[in-house]
Amino acid sequence: MGLLGAGLIGSGWAARFLLAGIDVRLFDPAPAAAEGVEDAVRAARRAWRQLTLAPLPTEGTLTVVDSVAEAVDGVELVQESAPEREELKTRLLAQADEAAAPDTIIATSTSGLLPSRLAADMRRAERFVVGHPFNPVYLLPLVEVCASERTAPSTVTDAAAMYRAVGMRPLVVRREIDGFIADRLLEALWREALWLVADDVATAEEIDDAVRFGAGLRWASMGTFLTYRLGGGDDGMRHFMKQFGPALQLPWTHLTDVPELTDGLLDAIVAQSDAQADGHSIAELKAIRDDCLVAVLRGLKGAGYGAGEVVALTERELFERAGRERVQAAGGTLSDGRLRLHEVLVDPSWIDYNGHMTEYRYLEVMADTTDAFLREIGVVGPYIDAGRSYYTVETHIRHLDEAHGGDRVYVATRLLGHDEKRLHLWHELRRDAGDELIATGEHLLLHVDRAAGKTTPAAAEILDALERIAAAQQGPAWPEGAGNHVRGPRPLNFL
Ligand SMILES: NC(=O)c1ccc[n+]([C@@H]2O[C@H](COP(=O)([O-])OP(=O)(O)OC[C@H]3O[C@@H](n4cnc5c(N)ncnc54)[C@H](O)[C@@H]3O)[C@@H](O)[C@H]2O)c1
Repeated sequence: MGLLGAGLIGSGWAARFLLAGIDVRLFDPAPAAAEGVEDAVRAARRAWRQLTLAPLPTEGTLTVVDSVAEAVDGVELVQESAPEREELKTRLLAQADEAAAPDTIIATSTSGLLPSRLAADMRRAERFVVGHPFNPVYLLPLVEVCASERTAPSTVTDAAAMYRAVGMRPLVVRREIDGFIADRLLEALWREALWLVADDVATAEEIDDAVRFGAGLRWASMGTFLTYRLGGGDDGMRHFMKQFGPALQLPWTHLTDVPELTDGLLDAIVAQSDAQADGHSIAELKAIRDDCLVAVLRGLKGAGYGAGEVVALTERELFERAGRERVQAAGGTLSDGRLRLHEVLVDPSWIDYNGHMTEYRYLEVMADTTDAFLREIGVVGPYIDAGRSYYTVETHIRHLDEAHGGDRVYVATRLLGHDEKRLHLWHELRRDAGDELIATGEHLLLHVDRAAGKTTPAAAEILDALERIAAAQQGPAWPEGAGNHVRGPRPLNFL
């Protein structure tokens, strides 16, 4: 992709695309722009490592160039992220339009300028679109996509697909409008917050508390309308509107009035904001923000809701991509036919009070390996979407050695047996350096039809894939410890 401008937003775009394995060509007249991108990439790596265990692709390459023409040369997407000044953007976009190949999409990050005005000097405005992201661009999935009067519908679809491919959630703004959707909402809240400070009703910190301890938590998963639907009790939205609709007539808010930004008000806001930061530098606050965003996104992923769905989908695609690359490289099969499908770095946060990897992480690593095995045999997107999958019905994990923080571990997998409906897997968790066996996992899975709610035979192509793996693994002896159950001392009061 070609990037015009890499300040706060452009460097976030660069980080998102580079981490997705896409090369970036950057033009920015500021000499320090490349450093800003490096900082953003570092922050993005840190955040994504916490967000997912899925292997990220090999990072793209950043090339800093000296002109708009070089930045747009040979790329599929140009993302303009220069300062929010209409005349500057109009000129820059016209330059990009002049130099780019006809099928290159040209997008602007504008927060709220009208695309038809920005496209005024473009000859091929049919390939122009707004792609309005949110800070930090490398973590927040939302990007508002808005067409100008001259934009071709296919440009909107194609741009949305490109953003989706780097883990984002495009929201098509159906009508060209100042401020699009999100910034209109944010501005209303922001204006009201400034009034509350100007009227000396609340401080910056009190206003932020009013958001983050209450509605902000609900907004992250449900937004405004769904939240209010629940505010109406069992009768939902109609009851909510009946109950709270009349209150809209009360003069609670200042509507579109704006407080005058006097020196006094600015000083008060800056002083309150400084106090609120409590000595944290901007860099520290950014790291705290990213950690919290990751925590929310991970939580939402677990709940399978809102932005969590985007994270889950991105993760699935990352695993599938890694699987495809692994198969292509044919490097995942060990000499005796065992499959090396999954490896991870033991994160220091996985270590418990005993100083080694905590128990449930073993199951997580085994389960991720089982998922990798399922992808390997073709239990992927369309197969799962058709309601077919394998469910684990039995697991036996043996802990034989300790995994420590920072250890790189991998799992070697054997298919101990299978038939039309059953899969019997054997995972060996090993330390990469030294190859010591740390744990084994033995799992029985059943093939199910989720809609029918019962076990069914796997499809022929899945059974063929299992046959191929079984044939390649013939030879090694039955693994020591396989087929065991938990054998402890049996108390006398059991028969
Ligand atoms: N800051 C936000 O939270 C936010 C969020 C979403 C969208 N946006 C939009 O993104 C755009 C960029 O905002 P920002 O906050 O990153 O601004 P910024 O000031 O941090 O960065 C602008 C960058 O553009 C560069 N630039 C200046 N003239 C240029 C030119 N002729 N060609 C190429 N680069 C040039 C500057 O050197 C700078 O690095 C704006 O349109 C803004 O509205 C901002």
